[in-house]
Amino acid sequence: MHLRLLRAKALFRRATCGRTTFSTAQPKVVTVGIDFGCKNSRVAIIDDSLVPELVDSESGRSTPSYVTSVPPEVSEGRYAWALQRLEGLGKHVAVGELAKCRMSRQPSDVVFNIKKLIGKEYDDCSVQEMRKRVHFGIIEGERGEACVKISGMNFSPVEIASVIFAKLKDAVLMYQFHHELKAVISVPIFFSKQQREDIVLAGNKAGLTVLQLIDEPTAAALSRATMKESTVVVFDMGAGAYTVSVFRVSGTNVEVKSQFSDPCVGGDHFDDILLDYFVTQITNSHGVDIRGDKYAMMLLAEAAEQAKVELSTEHEVIISTPFIISSSECSGDPSVSISRVEFERLVLKLVEQI
Ligand SMILES: Nc1ncnc2c1ncn2[C@@H]1O[C@H](COP(=O)(O)OP(=O)(O)OP(=O)(O)O)[C@@H](O)[C@H]1O
Ligand SMILES: [Mg+2]
Repeated sequence: MHLRLLRAKALFRRATCGRTTFSTAQPKVVTVGIDFGCKNSRVAIIDDSLVPELVDSESGRSTPSYVTSVPPEVSEGRYAWALQRLEGLGKHVAVGELAKCRMSRQPSDVVFNIKKLIGKEYDDCSVQEMRKRVHFGIIEGERGEACVKISGMNFSPVEIASVIFAKLKDAVLMYQFHHELKAVISVPIFFSKQQREDIVLAGNKAGLTVLQLIDEPTAAALSRATMKESTVVVFDMGAGAYTVSVFRVSGTNVEVKSQFSDPCVGGDHFDDILLDYFVTQITNSHGVDIRGDKYAMMLLAEAAEQAKVELSTEHEVIISTPFIISSSECSGDPSVSISRVEFERLVLKLVEQI
């Protein structure tokens, strides 16, 4: 975003908060912590107290890690300030809630889960497995690396990650203007050297000075760093993986005692099981197999995730199928349902892996 606009927004915010002083004489530098997630990313300002202050984005406390292209009339229109620019291509893209909202209109052009592709070879079996599940194109880059396709254009995972970081940077600058953002970015403990290098590269491309990468569980344990002396267990179930870590925390000293992570068990894997269940239910009740219909599968995948979340509090969830398949194909009961008991039976193997 244009620096002048950001500065004006920061001034306005300060004025409305009752603080009217603003000087550009001294370069203002701030340190931020970034949690880059498969599905959601978050940014917090870290001051001397070491207690992170989460910065809100358009959609609340987190920014969906979703990126998509936008038509020229949008990129040149009045909402251009909310977009990010892919420098190499001179193109604007939408990031976060703006991109996620476009899932229902152009599912094959909305990229997410880029964290699972960063630093990976195209031939990697996890990449090939992901290709079968997502609606956007995953292709082979010039050096054999995994890349993605949006509106017919190829992007590297570093480029996609960089625009997500740029979006988080904008969220901070909208809140408080700074000339420089120094960043500490958290990454999974199983990230390779290549993946870590790519994250630093993406951070730098976004205009961040990357101070350090820290392991995600360590970042969580640091939020307990105000404790005098304690043992902290961190259980982090994300969308792509889960990690269990044990730390000895003493003031700001955080010592890793033990940790384990499994990139094959995360929220997405629960969603996939539920998705398969619903596809089978629809086939049985309507006699149509929607697996080949990308749009229907995208809607059902969203409904499956929502159902999983609701089953945390509800005993049964019902999904209305006319939203997913055309009404002409809806011959039987226009809904499919799942009880919590059935869901727990379906995911038992996954839960036992934890
Ligand atoms: N109430 C809930 N019950 C069950 N699952 C939930 C609930 N709320 C969120 N989730 C799931 O949590 C996951 C998202 O968590 P989070 O935003 O921490 O992931 P992430 O940080 O993007 O992923 P990762 O850490 O693996 O990169 C999704 O799979 C989402 O469906
Ligand atoms: Mg996470």
